Amino acid sequence: MPGSRAPRRPFAGRRVVLGVTGGIAAYKAIAIARDLTLAGASVDVVLTEGAMEFVRPLSFEALTGRPAHVSMYPAGDPLLHIRLARDADCIVVAPATANFLARAANGMADDLLTATLLATEAPVVLCPAMNDRMFAHPATQSNLARLREIGYRIAGPAVGPLAWGEGEGPGRMLEPEEIVGHAGRALEGATGLAGRRVVVTAGGTREAIDPVRYVGNRSSGRMGYEIAAAAWRRGAEVVLIAGPSHLPVPVGVQLRRIETAAQMLEAVRDELPRADSLVMAAAVADFRPADPAADKIKKEAGGVPEIRLEATDDVLRATRDARPAGCVVVGFALETADAVENGRRKLDGKGLDLLVVNDATEPGAGFEVDTNRVVLLAPGVPDEALPLLPKSEVADHILDRVEQVLMAGRGA
Ligand code: CTP
Repeated sequence: MPGSRAPRRPFAGRRVVLGVTGGIAAYKAIAIARDLTLAGASVDVVLTEGAMEFVRPLSFEALTGRPAHVSMYPAGDPLLHIRLARDADCIVVAPATANFLARAANGMADDLLTATLLATEAPVVLCPAMNDRMFAHPATQSNLARLREIGYRIAGPAVGPLAWGEGEGPGRMLEPEEIVGHAGRALEGATGLAGRRVVVTAGGTREAIDPVRYVGNRSSGRMGYEIAAAAWRRGAEVVLIAGPSHLPVPVGVQLRRIETAAQMLEAVRDELPRADSLVMAAAVADFRPADPAADKIKKEAGGVPEIRLEATDDVLRATRDARPAGCVVVGFALETADAVENGRRKLDGKGLDLLVVNDATEPGAGFEVDTNRVVLLAPGVPDEALPLLPKSEVADHILDRVEQVLMAGRGA
């Protein structure tokens, strides 16, 4: 996810076995090992003989600070596979070649990686990578079906450029950041959001003045994107309704791009009836030009145009009757004075289960920064003032509260 490289949930202090098998995508496994380690995990890399043709243990050891393993029977450590399997919180195999999938699907234990897989009770994520014809082969497809049946998660493959001369096709391994996202979802385990549908809005809206100019705001969308990423990681199905933003779409999240407040309203109204939670992190325009010009306003026309504004609909208020029973609704408020008092009024007026208030005048809070300092307001409970935190951590605090309300069945 965008932003911080500091140790973070759910990776901090967790053990991940990264299996690497013999495909050209093995070079990307080096970045996966690095990113998991930077996120705070202890990463034990296991290479197959085939992987050794592409990458060397030393590359991994330099990045993880831990020995990388190849041999099933290293001197003095005959039960390495059992130890790795038992200590793992999650096993990721990336790339997983057609040959490896065939061996794993048949329960073979003829090298350190397959033996570790057989011996573990940890969640397993397999990231297939191979030529498109090998991927499409009925043998590979039935192996994948069997592996799913066993309970392994299959992440990818994507459609994209394959090895040299092979063009594009389904078979390309997911990118390292996507695989780290899948590992995060596996590590998160069963949370109160698993299987729930969460709708998140993010970013600012743009309201046309003429075909090339607009009224907008400084929202980057970061807070909403972090919430969407964290909700998917916790096992939710996530729809992200977002205004224009250059941020990468978080892995697993379904994106609905909108531009104006009116389009935001339409998208929320459409998604809300199926939502277990709506998190309204978007900075929706309160006003828009009343009469946008059909053609570009020209300087030669003389004078300075006066732009008359009109109110937009308030999305939270206008969709109140579309909230299904038990839906947990979260609003945001950006204030510059009397933040908590104004927030309490909004909580009530907009019928919210939680309001995330931030004071735009505080250092490190608000737009275009990776951090935020917020106060969480909810009906009938004391205010919770959080310290200055990365937005990814603020997202987790917000989702903890959403889970609590969902579990208690007290949605708006
Ligand atoms: N919001 C909304 N529709 C709008 C404007 C805001 O649904 N047209 C949502 C925001 O996404 C946020 C919450 O309402 O979750 C609070 O927005 P804010 O602009 O702070 O509150 P307002 O009620 O617009 O009050 P004011 O701007 O006067 O402070």
